[in-house]
Amino acid sequence: MRRVVHMLAVALPLACLVAVSAAQEKTGGNPEAAKVKNPVATSPESVAAGETIYMRRCRGCHAKDGGGGPPKEAGERPASNLSDGTWDFGSTDGELFHTIRNGVGPKFIMEAWDDRLSETDTWNVVNFLRTLEKK
Ligand code: HEC
Repeated sequence: MRRVVHMLAVALPLACLVAVSAAQEKTGGNPEAAKVKNPVATSPESVAAGETIYMRRCRGCHAKDGGGGPPKEAGERPASNLSDGTWDFGSTDGELFHTIRNGVGPKFIMEAWDDRLSETDTWNVVNFLRTLEKK
C-alpha cells in the first residue's frame, strides 16, 4: 500500500505537469510571448542572416519557399506552411520567436532551437519569415 501511495504521489504531479505543458502548446497563440517586442529591426542584413540560417536549418522540413512539407513519418503533423499568413501558434514576432526557441510539443518534431541559435539569430529568422508571407 505504501508503495502505491508513493507512486501516486509521484505520478499525479507529473501528470499535471504534462497536462499543463501540453496545454501551453495548444494552437491559438501565446499571450505572454506576444508581448515580447522584436528588438532587431528588419533590414536587408537581418533578413539575409535569417535566410542563411533558414536554408541550412529549416528548409529540409518547411521547404525553400516556406510552403511546408509532408510529415516525416506517418501519423506525424506536417511541417507548417510558413508563407500563408496563417499561424497556429501565434502570429506576432514574439510568438514566432517563442515557437522557434521552444519548439512545438508534445512530440517536438518542431524542435526547440534555443540551444543552437542565438536570440539575435532567432530574430533574424523571424524577420526572414516575414518576407515569405504572401502579400
Ligand atoms: C524536422 C522538421 C522540422 C525542422 C527542421 C523545422 N521545423 Fe518548424 N515545424 C515542423 C513541424 C512538424 C511543425 C508543426 C508542429 C505542429 O503543428 O505540431 C513546425 C512548426 C513551425 C512553426 C509554427 C507555425 C505556425 O503555424 O504557428 C514555425 C514558426 C516553425 N516551425 C519555424 C521553423 C524554423 C524557423 C525552423 C528552423 C530554425 C524550423 N521550423 C525547423 C517541423 C520542422
